[in-house]
Amino acid sequence: MQSLYSNGLENIYDEMYQTFINYEEEFQFYSKIIKKHNKENVLEIGCGSGHLAKHFIHSTIDYNGMDLSNDMVKLSQKRNPTGTFHKGDMTNFYLNKTFDSVIITARTTSYLLNNVSVQKAIKNIYSHLDKKGIFCFDFIDANRFFKLIKDGKTIIHNAETRNTTYSRTSFMKPKITKENFMFQWDAKYYEIKNKNHTLITEDQSEVRAFTINEWQLFLEINNFTVLEIIDRKSYAFDTYVVVAQKQ
Ligand SMILES: C[S@@+](CC[C@H](N)C(=O)[O-])C[C@H]1O[C@@H](n2cnc3c(N)ncnc32)[C@H](O)[C@@H]1O
Repeated sequence: MQSLYSNGLENIYDEMYQTFINYEEEFQFYSKIIKKHNKENVLEIGCGSGHLAKHFIHSTIDYNGMDLSNDMVKLSQKRNPTGTFHKGDMTNFYLNKTFDSVIITARTTSYLLNNVSVQKAIKNIYSHLDKKGIFCFDFIDANRFFKLIKDGKTIIHNAETRNTTYSRTSFMKPKITKENFMFQWDAKYYEIKNKNHTLITEDQSEVRAFTINEWQLFLEINNFTVLEIIDRKSYAFDTYVVVAQKQ
């Protein structure tokens, strides 16, 4: 797990990602899909610090959030005192209830590092969905992204928050291993004050991108029908959003 998701650093994640992701737009996008299929409730897996949750909780769609990081769950609960949040790993969870839709946003599928994890996550999601339930998620498109980073690429993201300016310097490069379309993502996070950069934390993580065909195959062999694949550019990555239905 990336260091920014726990141990106090989740607060910095929280500040920075609000400047990367427009959560109102994110809500409009996902809620439109949920409503289009006449679904009334949603489980968000990888709910992070509860920004998307806030919009759902104030809507007509009944919301549950889940995250692997206990610190993220606490932050979500603090932001949304009336919301329902669970600590859970998408590859191995049991919530004792089912939902008519499940979403995974902000490329959280990149943490499904191998095919066994993907298979386990899909099976867990399947068993938490009602009949004809909708599973909607995004992923980094390996086809486009790997061409962009094939020789290694440094990308800087600055985040001007209310009180502080943060900067993230990322170095990304495809990682050829026996695993799948993995890439190395080395990130350094700085706080900037009076033009001075102070290093807050750094990550060296291996994460995953997918091709459309991989997801189609995974879903179909696990009894989902792929309804739609939407090309949706995100702040840093070429991304597709998949809408699939439990058969
Ligand atoms: C990129 S953040 C996205 C958070 C949130 N969806 C947002 O838009 O701000 C990824 C989140 O997924 C969580 N996560 C990573 N692996 C997970 C897993 N196996 N199961 C559940 N959550 C996971 C992390 O703790 C983190 O909060």
